[in-house]
Amino acid sequence: MAAVQVPLPADYVDRSPEELAERIRAAKAKLGDRLVILGHHYQRDEIIEHADFRGDSYKLAKDANLRPEAEFIVFCGVHFMAESADILTPDHVKVILPNLAAGCSMADMASIFQVRRAWKDIGTALGTTEGVIPVTYINSAANLKAFVGEHGGTVCTSTNAPTAVAWALEQGEKVLFFPDQHLGRNTGVRLGFDPDADMLVWDPFKPMGGHTPDEIQRAKFLLWKGHCSVHKRFSVAQIEAARESHPGVTVLVHPECELDVVRAADLNGSTEFILKSVENSAAGSTWAIGTEINLVSRLAKEHPDKTIFCLDPQICPCSTMYRIHPSFLAWTLENLAEGNLVNQVQVPEDVKVWSRVALQRMLTVWA
Ligand code: 13P
Ligand code: SF4
Repeated sequence: MAAVQVPLPADYVDRSPEELAERIRAAKAKLGDRLVILGHHYQRDEIIEHADFRGDSYKLAKDANLRPEAEFIVFCGVHFMAESADILTPDHVKVILPNLAAGCSMADMASIFQVRRAWKDIGTALGTTEGVIPVTYINSAANLKAFVGEHGGTVCTSTNAPTAVAWALEQGEKVLFFPDQHLGRNTGVRLGFDPDADMLVWDPFKPMGGHTPDEIQRAKFLLWKGHCSVHKRFSVAQIEAARESHPGVTVLVHPECELDVVRAADLNGSTEFILKSVENSAAGSTWAIGTEINLVSRLAKEHPDKTIFCLDPQICPCSTMYRIHPSFLAWTLENLAEGNLVNQVQVPEDVKVWSRVALQRMLTVWA
């Protein structure tokens, strides 16, 4: 994380949900067109109700520019999303994350130092890094996006990962995919590759990622050893239980889940894909969904004519997304309305140059 969150003043602590909602509405009204609030689908309802636009990572990266005349984008999501918005918007737009502690544990699993080390090791194993195309999931720090931009690679999201990886394999012979091994593996399998013969897991804590030069030479996919702690919780046993308790259920999971879970499910896809699949389904249909609980609960509320439940019977929220509490949003907006800029997320200029190349490559090639 780039900065530390200051504790909230006493005036924001232990306030009722109604009072906070009212204060957010009042500050938002005062800021008017100067402000845009973006909300990721994993945010709680008490935040989503104030969002001007909601979406998944891909949609929000595009939506960041929908009102270029705005002065402030308050990003209700996590740190890497706010960074992407800062990279993609004009200089006069200030991007704000209401709680700077809202990071992403998966994004934190790959640092620029580890990736540079891996690149050097891969170069040693292969004699060159020519032909190795780095692809980073959008869930990564801006300096990793800059790394892929500078080395001929691209950013991808769960929406466009298959197209992005297919593109990368047209540019070279191998893909270094970080930080989510599961999205990388599921994408490779979807493109027809063998998870055992064609892929290896790169462990950043081991020399050479834990492999011999020969193994590195043979692999088509070098998958970074990272994962999402939310999506890793879903299991084949849960899918079997859902099928038993709800015959005829359609099981739909996010591709951050493990390969055996994706294989056991009926469908898999990004957050927007999950939303569209449910929206377009027949009344009376039943869905077991393997993704974040705020999204699943909202889908269930918005589609009372369908049976929708989370695959994991234990509640499964993203704890960092959850750090955007209404008290932080109220504090942020009231400060902005009073002329105090707080919690700005600013990507350094030198990092912006190449990270913008990588993000624009994604947005223009797979728009
Ligand atoms: P998408 O928003 O791309 O579906 O990714 C899910 C996620 O884990 C966001 O952090
Ligand atoms: Fe990161 Fe997973 Fe939370 Fe998404 S759901 S922000 S990938 S920890």
